[in-house]
Amino acid sequence: MQIRHSSVLLCPPAYFTVRDVKNPFMHPERAVDSARALEQWEALREAFATAGVVSYAVDPVEDLEDMVFAANQAFVGNGSLHARFAVPSAMRYPSRRREVPYFARWLAAHGFEVVDLDLDVDAGEYLEGHGDLLQHPGDAHVWAGFGFRSSPSGVSRFSAAMEAENVRVTPLELADETFYHLDTCFAPLNSEAALIYPPAFTSAALAALRTGWRRLHEVDRNDAFSFACNGIAVNGYFIVAHPSAAVVETVRGEGLVPLVVDTSEFEKGGGSVFCMKTFLD
Ligand code: ARG
Repeated sequence: MQIRHSSVLLCPPAYFTVRDVKNPFMHPERAVDSARALEQWEALREAFATAGVVSYAVDPVEDLEDMVFAANQAFVGNGSLHARFAVPSAMRYPSRRREVPYFARWLAAHGFEVVDLDLDVDAGEYLEGHGDLLQHPGDAHVWAGFGFRSSPSGVSRFSAAMEAENVRVTPLELADETFYHLDTCFAPLNSEAALIYPPAFTSAALAALRTGWRRLHEVDRNDAFSFACNGIAVNGYFIVAHPSAAVVETVRGEGLVPLVVDTSEFEKGGGSVFCMKTFLD
């Protein structure tokens, strides 16, 4: 079954910059070219339009330099208790916690039930939205990465809340700090297949993934570093930055058309296409 979406939430990169080191890709001494970042963001929005996805945007806020990474501030899902709900994140880094209310407010104003878990960051309960929480296409099942950004207790609080929504959650422990979010080392392509960078997972996590997917296509370290697993499968396309020939062949083999965008400015912040959006349906 193909992954289909009709709308997506983004945030313009008006104040995007690299100030500190939240992940190993970030080097504050490498300046961001803001004009180029805006062009790349607009090209991403065009790519969504090509794929038939309508985009919405949260207004960017001065000083919230990572807000462009719109995947992280909330988990948006469908459940049996709430048809359209959003779980606000508890970000590990205080600077990013300030982004969350802006997304929660936007989502509430657009018809989403906000399911606040009141996560206690002082007790180490971290949860980072779609950076770590990836929906299994066509199934009420979420794969939940933890270890570097989301924490075991954050994921178990999420999992408990999802019981009421009839959504199953499978925790996956991450093992390589370079691949700090699940969306940096794992990309669902359809309900049966995904791209994966195996060394980013513990053996228990790999075993769980192998039972849940028919085809796990392994990418090499270069492709993983180039954010191949941060691509987005949607409506027959695979939106991705600089894929190798091997990645192109794999996604074509799964019936997807590669749609290549440049995210080089955002990669300075440790993110590519998947990090920059939250699907709304
Ligand atoms: N600089 C951001 C951070 O470290 C990048 C977030 C990327 N988002 C993602 N879903 N992987 O928080």
